[in-house]
Amino acid sequence: MAEQTWVRLVTAQTPTNIAVIKYWGKRDETLILPVNDSISVTLDPEHLCTTTTVAVSPSFDQDRMWLNGKEISLSGGRYQNCLREIRARACDVEDEEKGIKIARKDWEKLHIHIASYNNFPTAAGLASSAAGFACLVFALAKLMNAKEENSQLSAIARQGSGSACRSLFGGFVKWIMGKTEDGSDSLAVQLVDEKHWDDLVIIIAVVSSRQKETSSTTGMRDTVETSLLLQHRAQEIVPKRIVEMEEAIKSRDFASFAQLTCADSNQFHAVCLDTRPPIFYMNDTSHRIISCVEKWNRSEGTPQVAYTFDAGPNAVLIARDRKAATQLLQKLLFYFPPQPDTDLNSYVIGDKSILKDAG
Ligand code: DP6
Repeated sequence: MAEQTWVRLVTAQTPTNIAVIKYWGKRDETLILPVNDSISVTLDPEHLCTTTTVAVSPSFDQDRMWLNGKEISLSGGRYQNCLREIRARACDVEDEEKGIKIARKDWEKLHIHIASYNNFPTAAGLASSAAGFACLVFALAKLMNAKEENSQLSAIARQGSGSACRSLFGGFVKWIMGKTEDGSDSLAVQLVDEKHWDDLVIIIAVVSSRQKETSSTTGMRDTVETSLLLQHRAQEIVPKRIVEMEEAIKSRDFASFAQLTCADSNQFHAVCLDTRPPIFYMNDTSHRIISCVEKWNRSEGTPQVAYTFDAGPNAVLIARDRKAATQLLQKLLFYFPPQPDTDLNSYVIGDKSILKDAG
C-alpha cells in the first residue's frame, strides 16, 4: 500500500427519532444497556438529520472527526467503542475503477476521517446524538464493507448513544433492552415501516434551541442513583405500556397511541422531578403547549394530537392526520406567534421516514 494516495469516501444520511415510550436509565453505563424497552418513531430525513462522510486513505496518520465544521476529539470511549466494533467486522474492499484494494487486515492500520453535519441544533434535546451515532456507524459499516444487518449495527450504534440504535430503521422502532451481560441482545427492531401509518404528521415546536443544561447521560445517571419512581416505572409501568403501544401502532389506534404517548412523556418528566437534584427539562412554554393540546383533545371528544418532550423544552406534536396538523399549526401560531423575541419561533413539519443511504 506504500505508494498509494487514494481516498475512499462514503456519505450517509440518517434521521433522528423521537421516543413515544422513553428510554431513561442505564443498567450498564459502559455498554449502554437500558433499564427498560423503548419505542420511537423515525422522522423524515429532510428536517432533522445528520449527514456524515467517512473517508479512509493511506495518507491519513490518525483518526480525526469534525462536527458541524469544528474538529472534536475522538478520544471518548463512545467513539472508540463504535470504531473498534466496526473495525472488528471490516471485510475486504475492492474498487477496480479507482484502483483501491483494501484487505481485511489492513483496516487495523488505516486511519479514518469523519465529517458530520446536523441540520438542526446540536444537544438541544432534539436527539442529535441519536442521528449522529446511527449515521456514523452506518457510514463506517459501508466504508469497511461490514456485512452486518441493521439490527446488528444498532447494537453498535447503541454503544455511541442509547437512542441512536433506534435510528437505524424507519417507521416505528422498538429497542429491546435485552438480558445478556455483554449486551448482544440489546438492539433495535422495526415494528412497522414508515408506510404503515402515513396519516400521522409530526410537528416539532422549537421552544428553545439552546444547549440543554443537564445532558441525558448525566441526568439519567442521577435518576438511576436517586429516584424510587424510576424503579416502579421500569419494572411495573413500561413493560405493560410497551405491549399496549405495540398494539396501538399495529392497529393504528390513534386514541390509545396518544394517551400512551402523552402519559409516558409526563411520567418521564415526573421521574426527572423525582431525581436528586431535580431535573427540569420543560419550561413554562412547554407546559402551556401541553395545556393547549389537552384542552383541544378534550373539547373534540377524541384525541387529535399527542405530545411528547425529550430532555429539553421542545414539543414534539404528533397529529392524527393533515387536517388535525393544519388546525394545530393555526392554534400554535395564534397562541405562540413566531416573533424574534418570543421563545417559540419555528416549526418543523415532517412525516415518518426511512433511513436513506446516500453513499
Ligand atoms: C429523553 O440516548 O441521548 O431522549 O445513551 O446517554 O447517550 P445516552 O442518552 P440518549 O438519551 C435519550 C433520552 C430521551 C428518551 C429517548 O430517546 O428514549
